[in-house]
Amino acid sequence: MVTGIPFACIFHIALLHLWSNSGVAALPHGLRSTEGTSRRTDVGYDIPIMTKKARSTGSRNRRRGNASGSVGLGNNVDLLYTVPIEVGNNVFAVNLDTGSSDLWVVSDTCRRGACSGARTARYPQSSVPSGGANVNMTYGDSTTGTFASGAVGLDTATIAGVSMNQQAFGVVNDTSNFLVQFEAAGIFGLSFPAASRVQQAVVTRNSGPIDTTDKFIESTYTSGPLLPRIAMSGALELPMFTVQFQRNTIDVGGEGLLTLGKLPDGVDNSSLTWVPVRPYSVAEGGMDPPSWAPNEVYLVRQSLKS
Ligand SMILES: *[C@@H]1O[C@H](CO)[C@@H](O)[C@H](O)[C@H]1NC(C)=O
Ligand SMILES: *[C@@H]1O[C@H](CO)[C@@H](O)[C@H](O)[C@H]1NC(C)=O
Ligand SMILES: *[C@@H]1O[C@H](CO)[C@@H](O)[C@H](O)[C@H]1NC(C)=O
Ligand SMILES: *[C@@H]1O[C@H](CO)[C@@H](O)[C@H](O)[C@H]1NC(C)=O
Repeated sequence: MVTGIPFACIFHIALLHLWSNSGVAALPHGLRSTEGTSRRTDVGYDIPIMTKKARSTGSRNRRRGNASGSVGLGNNVDLLYTVPIEVGNNVFAVNLDTGSSDLWVVSDTCRRGACSGARTARYPQSSVPSGGANVNMTYGDSTTGTFASGAVGLDTATIAGVSMNQQAFGVVNDTSNFLVQFEAAGIFGLSFPAASRVQQAVVTRNSGPIDTTDKFIESTYTSGPLLPRIAMSGALELPMFTVQFQRNTIDVGGEGLLTLGKLPDGVDNSSLTWVPVRPYSVAEGGMDPPSWAPNEVYLVRQSLKS
């Protein structure tokens, strides 16, 4: 992955991830259905993942070329895994990243750094509400990592025909991430909302730091990442997504599959091994329970620096 968090290994199903809906009242927002390249099935949605080989262009990528090589995908080749997301009136191919939690796309004002000469779709800076938050999203470690910075946009975002109004996302006008040179317009982070820089930036700007679990969970509904907001709105049969890659299809440049709200067709739950996420009590550094569910035990939420 160009974003700096390589998959440790690629199995039939690379990732399976659930959100806890417990204690969170369904807070329906205006959802509208649109046509897309995705397919609605009885219980959820299938979204094809496009894979694309991105030849390394410089030292920044070489290290990750090694990481790709270690899973048998060839040296000095990075793979981009993109899905189409509609933001406002444009469709953007965004790179899936399981190690981060934010959606960002490049702005039409991004010209320097990795944006120089990039021929990807761009989001109009003129559509960004003025006076909003700014965000700087960093990836990887301090010596080899990349950043993507800009203003926070608010627009309708649609994946698989499921739309969320007023979705907060990064409108990046400066980045060192070379994925934009390979016709990917940005990153779609699939990790937990606790790691969202955009949510943190918006909430901090509007009402100060996220200092309680109540504020964190409530603000995830209004200002959190796209997939958790869709799950919290009750639009999915099951609050889950899966990402499926098959090595043989990757080798021939084929497709993978992102599913929302269900397991992939043909995958039997009983054939999977479920590994529980370790909860941390408050004494162990975990988050306080929310006021409406005092017995809940949560993960660690690190306080992120803006
Ligand atoms: C990448 O591979 C080259 C050649 O095998 C090796 O010399 C180098 O140390 C590797 N770099 C990393 C960061 O693993
Ligand atoms: C974003 O973070 C990177 C890496 O720390 C830094 O080089 C860059 O100047 C920052 N950009 C902004 C706008 O703060
Ligand atoms: C990029 O966006 C930030 C945040 O809105 C703004 O402060 C900065 O001036 C912009 N930089 C350029 C080069 O457009
Ligand atoms: C799959 O099985 C696990 C373990 O039995 C269960 O907790 C989970 O709810 C099931 N998930 C689906 C999507 O059926």
